[in-house]
Amino acid sequence: MHSLLYLTSAAWIATFVAAIATSRVGPSNAICTQKIYDLDISSYNYMFQNVQSDANMTYLTKLNQEYVGSFPYASNFSDEYEAGIMEVTGTYGISGTLCVPLTGEKNASNVQYLIHGIGYDSSYWDFAVGDDETYSYVYASAAAGIATFRYDRLGTGLSEAPPDAYNVVQKPTDVAIAIKFAEMLRSGEIGTKAYSKIVLVGHSYGSIQSQALTTLAPTAVDGVVLTAYSANATALPLWWSSTAYTTASLVFPTRFSPAELTNAYLVTESIWTSQLNYWYFPGYSQSIADYARATEQPVTQGVLFTIANNITAAPEFKGAVRVITGANDWIFCYSNCFAVPPNSTEPNIPAYVQELYPAASYFDTYIPANTGHIINLHYSAPETFQNMIQFAETVFTAL
Ligand SMILES: *[C@@H]1O[C@H](CO)[C@@H](O)[C@H](O)[C@H]1NC(C)=O
Ligand SMILES: *[C@@H]1O[C@H](CO)[C@@H](O)[C@H](O)[C@H]1NC(C)=O
Ligand SMILES: *[C@@H]1O[C@H](CO)[C@@H](O)[C@H](O)[C@H]1NC(C)=O
Ligand SMILES: *[C@@H]1O[C@H](CO)[C@@H](O)[C@H](O)[C@H]1NC(C)=O
Ligand SMILES: *[C@@H]1O[C@H](CO)[C@@H](O)[C@H](O)[C@H]1NC(C)=O
Ligand SMILES: *[C@@H]1O[C@H](CO)[C@@H](O)[C@H](O)[C@H]1NC(C)=O
Repeated sequence: MHSLLYLTSAAWIATFVAAIATSRVGPSNAICTQKIYDLDISSYNYMFQNVQSDANMTYLTKLNQEYVGSFPYASNFSDEYEAGIMEVTGTYGISGTLCVPLTGEKNASNVQYLIHGIGYDSSYWDFAVGDDETYSYVYASAAAGIATFRYDRLGTGLSEAPPDAYNVVQKPTDVAIAIKFAEMLRSGEIGTKAYSKIVLVGHSYGSIQSQALTTLAPTAVDGVVLTAYSANATALPLWWSSTAYTTASLVFPTRFSPAELTNAYLVTESIWTSQLNYWYFPGYSQSIADYARATEQPVTQGVLFTIANNITAAPEFKGAVRVITGANDWIFCYSNCFAVPPNSTEPNIPAYVQELYPAASYFDTYIPANTGHIINLHYSAPETFQNMIQFAETVFTAL
């Protein structure tokens, strides 16, 4: 079997030192500790061929065409561009932030563990424009007396960005990192104590990783909230094509440089391709969407090409599950979460996620109205946050 060993780059260390001086660490009502965790990670990854992390946009676009065009027979794409599975081992510097309520925790044995999605780093969970903390889930949780831990996915924020945007930065690596942090929360390696109850909250690709975590490490967390998620892949090919993902250093030349990110690190091409996929007008404030755009984070083509692979049920997960997806989510509901097949016994598309959780102690869905994919940043967010907190408290107080 092939294998690959990844070593930390000096460029990343310089970038990190420059960036940390300016970024917000947490909300006004919490004591937050941000640090770099050097994680030793080993995962079985898809081995790519005929790809190059520094290929030009012409070639990256061609790859995207072939990937999308191969659906639903993904075999055509994998014949040409994938050559099996290999073990990838590396040590990755990942920036994580633990926030404890300023006024104390309701129960210090419990924590919410937050995994963000594509286009963001962990500031998705503590989104604030100036002093306005309306859209910060970390703030809402601290106000409810609950601690949170969040981290920047590999290749985003203050975490390092390995140059290999295919074989290293792809879904199995991200899932292995997600599992590692859950284990560290359990064993007391994050903050000052071990957490006995953990509620995992994912958003979008963070939910895909969270679902994989419940399959591969079913006792690592006690409950899971999958936001901006469903098991219906109908609109996924449309998402890959209509975002028009483009080399990040071309779209945002003042924020990302080719020295920092290889070409296959991508962002949405324009505010309109971003709106189409992520926002439901008029359910959000333009100033919030503008700020999200101004701080957009990249995703590798390797993640995009592996994100839908190997989604399997979690028959051993016995915790509670809630799925929260905006009624107008384009990617996971094709803009209408109530468009279930005729005579369906399920009330909405996200409710089918229950099929992945045959042993869950509890399952339900919550579908906020007038809400697109970025649920934390639509006007419905404050109400959604209370729904998420209520779920977490139910898990924390269950016997
Ligand atoms: C882009 O890369 C491809 C493949 O290497 C090459 O054939 C093509 O000429 C390049 N296009 C530009 C504009 O550089
Ligand atoms: C793509 O896959 C389909 C189904 O497996 C097959 O019928 C077709 O010949 C393939 N096309 C190419 C160009 O390989
Ligand atoms: C705190 O939560 C834990 C579960 O994580 C539970 O066992 C314990 O009884 C709770 N403590 C109080 C004082 O409610
Ligand atoms: C696919 O998922 C299963 C668990 O359902 C896991 O055992 C297997 O390693 C995964 N395969 C790959 C290639 O990631
Ligand atoms: C999947 O989504 C499509 C597009 O919204 C919809 O037509 C179909 O009914 C959905 N299927 C299920 C099983 O939810
Ligand atoms: C839905 O149920 C009705 C009544 O049982 C039946 O007549 C109809 O054929 C069903 N439609 C589909 C698409 O299964």
